[in-house]
Amino acid sequence: MNGVIEYLQDEHTKLNIIKLIKNNLYLYHQINTNEKIQSFSGSIYNYFVSECIQNNQYISLSNETINRINDIYINLVKKLKQISTDNYDNELIESIVINHREQLLKALSENEYHKCDNQLYIPCSEYSGSFQYTLLRLNQFRLLEPVMDIGCGKDYELLKYLEHAGYKDIFGIDQYISDNNYIACTNWFDYKFEPNKWGTVIAHMSFSNHFRRSLINEDINLEKYKDKYAEILRSLQINGLFIYTPSIKQIENSINKSYYSVAYYENMNDRNLDTVVIKRNL
Ligand SMILES: C[S@@+](CC[C@H](N)C(=O)[O-])C[C@H]1O[C@@H](n2cnc3c(N)ncnc32)[C@H](O)[C@@H]1O
Repeated sequence: MNGVIEYLQDEHTKLNIIKLIKNNLYLYHQINTNEKIQSFSGSIYNYFVSECIQNNQYISLSNETINRINDIYINLVKKLKQISTDNYDNELIESIVINHREQLLKALSENEYHKCDNQLYIPCSEYSGSFQYTLLRLNQFRLLEPVMDIGCGKDYELLKYLEHAGYKDIFGIDQYISDNNYIACTNWFDYKFEPNKWGTVIAHMSFSNHFRRSLINEDINLEKYKDKYAEILRSLQINGLFIYTPSIKQIENSINKSYYSVAYYENMNDRNLDTVVIKRNL
């Protein structure tokens, strides 16, 4: 997170943002409906979250923080659209930017789910739908619906691929805002996986990756991950599948095998990267 905090405190980037705002004042005036405000602020919210995730893919924004940052961007857009295009006050623009950055810093510093700092620099990627489909062996199963993709990514590539393949009842969750109404912007800890609901739950390089890391570090989120994982297993319908990579062998070993079966599919000669398919039998 340090990179984003430095970015928010850096004088040079502040001046660049002020310049960018001045050059785009005419654009803000065209944002004249609530729908346009939400859409524009949503895209700059996503840009900010993407900067945070690129900086540290393990950042976990609580729903409270997600809503707070979203509100900060909505307020910013509302303020910018009131500034006159030809007779603007430089000091006003500067104070809007300073105040906006202070609010973001405060929201990040008070984010409930991000107490483990001092991260390594670990970049984050999103993968194509066909890559995920193949690696997760989704062609080998008839996926029961509804399907949930946890941490589906800003561009929800796998869901688009599944939609194209004919699946209809598909959903995703992520920290990004989407204008697609089958994707919810939420932290997975704040999302309730209802019992017996899902035909298929998928998590590619997302939930289990973060869970593994929490397990290795024995950090403060570990119990939350264990509880959420158990909640996900209970949320499967009978014959439903939970399919994910990377694997978390220690956790999979502890699953009650009378209720669930566990299968592994090897990837790239690294057993940590196995695709795991858990099936609810009873
Ligand atoms: C490495 S990306 C993978 C995205 C997608 N599954 C793919 O393979 O292309 C991990 C995703 O998990 C999301 N994520 C991370 N922590 C999250 C959390 N606590 N709640 C919801 N989504 C989260 C990130 O926003 C990011 O989009």
